[in-house]
Amino acid sequence: MNLTTRTSSRLLLIVLLGAVHGCANDPSPTQSNEPASDPRGDFRDVIGLPVALDLDPDERVVEYALEISSTTQELLPGIFTEMWTYNGTSPGPLLRARLGDTMRIHVTNLLEEPTTVHWHGLRIDHRMDGVVHDGLLAIQPGETFTYEFVPPEAGTFWYHPHVRSLVQVEAGLYGMLVVQEHEADAPDVDADRVFVIDDIRLNAGGSIAATSTAGMDVMHGRLGNRLLVNGSAEVTPVTFARGQVERWRLVNTANARTFTFQFDGLRVREIGADGGLWPQRMTREIDELTLPVGARAELEVWLAEDVTSASLDAMVLVQDAAGNLSTEAWPLVPVEVDAETELETLRIGHHASPAFERISDGEAVTDSIALSAVNDALGFRFTVNGQSWPSVDTWSVRQNDLHVIELKNEIGPEHPFHLHGQFFQVLSLNGQPAWESGWRDTVLLPGMARVVIATRFENPGMWMYHCHILEHAEYGMMAMVEVVPDEANTSTAHGQ
Ligand code: C2O
Ligand code: CU
Ligand code: CU
Repeated sequence: MNLTTRTSSRLLLIVLLGAVHGCANDPSPTQSNEPASDPRGDFRDVIGLPVALDLDPDERVVEYALEISSTTQELLPGIFTEMWTYNGTSPGPLLRARLGDTMRIHVTNLLEEPTTVHWHGLRIDHRMDGVVHDGLLAIQPGETFTYEFVPPEAGTFWYHPHVRSLVQVEAGLYGMLVVQEHEADAPDVDADRVFVIDDIRLNAGGSIAATSTAGMDVMHGRLGNRLLVNGSAEVTPVTFARGQVERWRLVNTANARTFTFQFDGLRVREIGADGGLWPQRMTREIDELTLPVGARAELEVWLAEDVTSASLDAMVLVQDAAGNLSTEAWPLVPVEVDAETELETLRIGHHASPAFERISDGEAVTDSIALSAVNDALGFRFTVNGQSWPSVDTWSVRQNDLHVIELKNEIGPEHPFHLHGQFFQVLSLNGQPAWESGWRDTVLLPGMARVVIATRFENPGMWMYHCHILEHAEYGMMAMVEVVPDEANTSTAHGQ
């Protein structure tokens, strides 16, 4: 495969076009007499999900109301499933903000059990993080809680409950949250499209299969028997004309399934991940993508040359009647080629180069986290450094200190490790330089693997870290790190 030549010739094209584009469209604010325009720009369209309605007329505030209730969804024609939904749909509505906006979100719980909303990937105040601990409570049936925060960076995030997640997320409670880049940093694309990808386990009649508390469902997490894209088990094609370029945002909201995607007839450039878009030098052409539970991908998608059809496929392990396993490519997003349409404007895709600093090049490991399991008189449970949630000691670190952490998976099942409230960089997997670029909040540990990550713990507060296989988390694989604010270390009156 001639990835290198393809990448470099297209990058060159983008640089040239970018320069021309830059001259024509953005006079530098220092040279202009016009008052500087709002860098946030207007909301740009995002396709694929219903968009929540902003209830606040204030230009700098987006205010949303989410009502959680049990509703009936038609996942397949004629098949009705009782699900738990935000505002009547699963996924819930797309929550949008522009970088710098305040988000205020009123959440009303009409279920018969407590819930919370966790904003996965947002580095906000830990009291808004949706985790129940230290006096922070769940939203009881009939109650409303208002979350308020200013997302500190642009990117693709998601929201889901952090109470009995294995049941509540499987029942349909999840949605995407997009923080839009400033106008100047936004990719120049024909469409910005979102794909929330899940699997769900349905009984023959369409109801959600009961949660099992033993066996494979606990050991490997619960796998579904239907794949859902934006809440539908039916595939919906996308149409591409020649020269068309789109931004695709993907999130894996399954309980346990790691997705591997392949791109057939598409030219795909990976341009970002959990922590937003990457500088040009870090982007790369890919023909396959592994997306662990909880993680996000940002892709720039073009049609490959001379193809008549294309698709994004999920590689799925299937078992035949005789018990033989094989991997099949299931088209999740078929792409229909529109050979007629001539595009009026040729877009250049992702052209900005947001700053990115590598914080560690493999300094000595400072901390170690072992993920494992025990089976003793107390029963089976998963462990973090030998302890099981909620009987865990809180790890304490100082804000802004560099930590190089080795994550050791001591058992066979894989673990998508997730850290709340912070981003980290992935340095290595089993001693080899890591494939995962940029800032991440989730990284996959294959069975028995050793992954090294680095973070500065920039966001103070009490933060959870856990395996995002929801069954592993429920059976103990969760723990807490307290990030002690910098000023507390210099102040003599600590703890007021
Ligand atoms: Cu999606 Cu505790 O996380
Ligand atoms: Cu999270
Ligand atoms: Cu796990």
